[in-house]
Parts: sequence; C-alpha cells; structure tokens
Amino acid sequence: MCGIFGIINQNEKILGPTLIEACKRLSYRGYDSVGCATMDEKWTIDLRKDAGKVEEVSQKLLFSEMKGFSGIAQLRWATFGAPSQVNAQPHFDSAKELFGAHNGNVVNNIQLREMFLKEGMTVRSTNDGESCVHSVEYFIKRGFETEEAVRRATTLLEGDYAFLLARKGEKKIYAVKKGSGLVIGIGEDGNYVSSDLPSLLFLTRKIIRVEDGEMAILEPSKVTIKKIEDGSIVKREVEKIEEEMESAKKGGFSHFMLKEIYEQPKVAMDLLHLLNASPIIEKFIEKLSNARNIYFIGCGTSYHACLFGAVAFAQYSKIPVIPILAPQFIAQYLPTASQRDIGVFVSQSGETKDVLRALELAKEKKMQALGLVNVLGSSLMKMSDFYLPLACGYEISVPATKTFINQSLTFLYLAAKMGGMDTSLLMDFPKAIQETLSKSEKTVREVIPIIKNYDEYYCLGYGFTYPIALEGALKIKEVTYCHCEGMLSTEFKHGPLSSVRENYPIIFVVSKTDIPVALSGINEVSCRGGTTIVISTEDERLKLNSKKIIAIPPCNDLFFSLVSVVPLQLLAYYSSVEKGYDPDFPRNLSKTLTVD
Ligand code: M6R
Repeated sequence: MCGIFGIINQNEKILGPTLIEACKRLSYRGYDSVGCATMDEKWTIDLRKDAGKVEEVSQKLLFSEMKGFSGIAQLRWATFGAPSQVNAQPHFDSAKELFGAHNGNVVNNIQLREMFLKEGMTVRSTNDGESCVHSVEYFIKRGFETEEAVRRATTLLEGDYAFLLARKGEKKIYAVKKGSGLVIGIGEDGNYVSSDLPSLLFLTRKIIRVEDGEMAILEPSKVTIKKIEDGSIVKREVEKIEEEMESAKKGGFSHFMLKEIYEQPKVAMDLLHLLNASPIIEKFIEKLSNARNIYFIGCGTSYHACLFGAVAFAQYSKIPVIPILAPQFIAQYLPTASQRDIGVFVSQSGETKDVLRALELAKEKKMQALGLVNVLGSSLMKMSDFYLPLACGYEISVPATKTFINQSLTFLYLAAKMGGMDTSLLMDFPKAIQETLSKSEKTVREVIPIIKNYDEYYCLGYGFTYPIALEGALKIKEVTYCHCEGMLSTEFKHGPLSSVRENYPIIFVVSKTDIPVALSGINEVSCRGGTTIVISTEDERLKLNSKKIIAIPPCNDLFFSLVSVVPLQLLAYYSSVEKGYDPDFPRNLSKTLTVD
C-alpha cells in the first residue's frame, strides 16, 4: 500500500539520501512507483518520479542530489490509474505552486477530476493523489489561506486517505489524516511525517501519533495538530519510542521472508510468556465463554489462522466458533448479529480495510469486538474493546509467516485454557518449530525439482491441517506466481482428481490422527500416476504409499499440525528464489491493504 514521507528543516540542505532511506523503509508496504519533491530557499520545486523500484528510480533520476529545506516522498501502489511516470506521486497543482502526495484511496476520484477539468485546472494524471492537491487548489482559488484550503479540501475528498501538501512561499508541510496511518517525528533541526513509525525511527525516536479527523502543520521548529472539523488545536504528548529497529534488518538472511520464518521459535516463545502473564487473557476467556455466537474474522493469512482457531476451539474447548472472511461476515452474519455476539478480529497490520469495515459495522450492531493485533497503535487496536498483542515485532516481508504462527498459537492457547488443558504443554512448541526448521530444510529443497515444472498443483489437508493446507497454498501462490490450490483432501476426489496425470504433484499435509483418511487420498492420486509429497510424521504407512515425505520431528499432537506449516513456508520461499523472484515483495501485492 502507498506510503508517504515528509521532512521540513530550518535550512536548505541535501535531502535526497534521507528521502531515499525513508522510501526504502516504507517499501515493505508494497509499491510500484516512487517519487520525491523538494523545495529550496528560492521556492524552486524539484519533482522527480517514475514507475519502478526505489533503487532503480532513485539512481536513474538522481534523487540523491535533491536539496531544499523541505521534501515529500511517496511510494505508490496502483489503485486509480496504471503504474506509470505520470501517475506516480507527488503531484503538482495547475500552476505548480503546490505539491503533494497521498496514501489510501479517494473513491470519488473520477467525479473530482471531471469537476477540476470543468474548473479549468490542469489535471495531468488519473491518480487520486493528484485530486488531493487540486482539492486544495480549488479552495485557494476561492481566496482561502493554505491551512483553511487544506481543511476544506477534505470536504471534497471521499474515502480513506492521508495526504501531505506544501506550497511555494511557505515553510510548512500540511498533513491530513482521514483513515490512513500518519505519524509525526520530532527532530533536532526539523520535523518529519510518515505513514508509519518504522520509516521514522532512523531519524528520531520522539513521535506524535495523528488521529483520524486531524491535521498537522509541520514547521521546522514546531508542529501544530488541529481537528479538521473545526480547526481547534489538539494537545498531544510526544511519545518516546524505545523499540529497536534491529528486527527490521535482514540480519544475515537473504530475504526478510526467510529471516521471519527463522524467527518463529523466538516470537512463539515471547508470545507464550506474554500470554502466561497477561491479565487480558481472563477477560478474553470470560467474554468468549458468555457469548451467544463467536466469530473469528480476518482476511488472507489471518483468516487461515481464524480457521485453525475454530478447529482448535471445537476440539479442545468444545466451543463452536464461526471463522469467516471479513467482507463475507457482513453479508452472512451481520444481519443477525447482536450484543450477545463476539467478533475476534485478526490482522497483522491492524489496518486492513476489509477487517476494519466489518468491525465498524459489528460495533454498530453492538457486538463486542476483541482484537488480535501485531502492530501496536494500529486502527484495529484502537477500535477493539480490548486486544491481545501478537508480539512478533515488525513483519517486513509481504508474505505473512511469523504472524500466522502467533495468531494460530494464540487461538490454540485460548482453546486449551478454556478446555481446562495444561497450557504449559505449549512451551514445547517453539522447540518443535526450531527442530522442524533445521531438519526439514534439506528435504524441502529436494521437493523443488518435483514441482518446478508445474504452474498449477494442489495442497491438501484434513481437519486440523485443512487451514494449514490453505495457508501453504496461499504462500506458494503469493511468492511463486503458480496456482497452488489449497483444498480439503476428501474433496479432491469430487472433481479435481481429473487433473492428475503422470508425475502431477500433489502435496498432502497430514496430522497423526488422520493418517488412515490421508492414505486413501494419497493412493487415489498415486495409482493414477501422480506424485505425492507428504508433510507428516515419519510413519511407515505414509512412507510406503507416497513418493516423498517431509517429516515433522516427533512432537506433541496438540501443536503438531501447526508445526507442519513450516515446511510449506520454506517450500514457498525456496521455490520463489529458484524462479528468480523477490519473495519479500511479490508483484502486485501490498503488505497493508487499506483499500476495498
Ligand atoms: O494485515 P492483515 O493480517 O489484516 O492482512 C491480511 C492479508 O492481506 C494478509 O494476510 C495476506 O494474505 C498476506 N500477505 C499473505 O501472506
């Protein structure tokens, strides 16, 4: 998803390297275009932008030489208008007196562009960021001062967004927040603003979080926050961030994805310590025990964790739970929802629009909203009645790995506790992941030649491993660009079996208790010439009946199935690298999806 960054200093200086560094730090959000604009003491605006990666565009356009006292940088992830030079941000107004950039979506962009063209404005792109700048221009043309024009611009712009704007003749950056993230950084010689915290921490540890419906006016030596509605001043304390950014560096791994896969034992242990000590757990349990209906709600990988959680709740606490994709919750369950129901909203970013929309509507129905969040300070955290942190640290790579583990582990912990089981058994879970990582890597790599010539295949699971198969298939799709379909293994014979031919690969993820069911499915494939790859325990029957086993080292049944996601994560990662792709930033994807 797009990212914006702004800097304002007392004196003119070379700003290029800072803008490039900020762009790099925002790049984990996913993007297809990049641009920077600076303004110097003579009020000259230097705007450079293009489609492409930060490294290539910044080298081609010599971002590093850009100078001035203020600058705005933007990474764009295309929603309105194709990725191209003209649609890249920042944008100018008609007279090139203003420049600005946005993050998020202006949903009435097409209508606004028509209106601006009728007004005689110069509209250069089809991108909605440009509409933010023209909206300010619209009110400046009507005689308003910049601050008031920025405030009024929000009455034209529909959607969820944040935008930055600067104007010739003023040593200020105006920043608006309406639905997308915005954080201010307070520096020694100047001030900064960004879509998120990680991109500010190389400059300062003193920050102010801007809330929805607020605007900030940044000057070199002060920052003023005001309510957009009436322009009244908001007093907000400066926060000191202690968190280390070490986790946002690759630490010797070739990619963040691999680093994050290898961080799983540690983050799982951190989470277990936190859950054991958390006073919120009892509250969570009390709420869940008294609910009429319980919904686990998320999207993508977070939804798969919900599905895993629902199986764990049924099996261990004997409580039925409805796992549901956030947008479908609105259609399928919202009409009958009430204050007796609980939604557990799950999101790594805490900013996924599909999830926040479901949460907003659930709250209108007076449903109770609990959150599982990784990003503290996120919208989900603020909107939940109360929340449990996932304690994963920054997850930089677009494919979610360690957050899936900790989301599922949280559900497993709650299910075990509510079922009166001994949760200390879970303390062996991190070790099981560690052993699986060290023992399965070699076999996983041996599977690559079996699958590499196929651009579509299946990953099947059953019961507890059904969500794991879905998650493995999503990971493979996401980073290898192959269609790997995740499916309930018993469904395979009801149609997809027809795709099996000589050597066609099928992955089976099998929990120990489901080996007999799996054996039928495996043989239905192998007797038709298919190649079966099994992720399970080193069982003789499985060995005899399948082509290849990726063995999970012996561990407790309670978490065996969850551990079996690890080889699938590795398989996705190594297959992606083998194809020459960048698994951290798969094409077309974004880490934080703040759009419909
Ligand atoms: O931040 P969230 O957990 O709400 O994100 C939801 C999905 O967009 C996300 O899990 C996506 O499916 C992952 N990139 C998959 O690896």
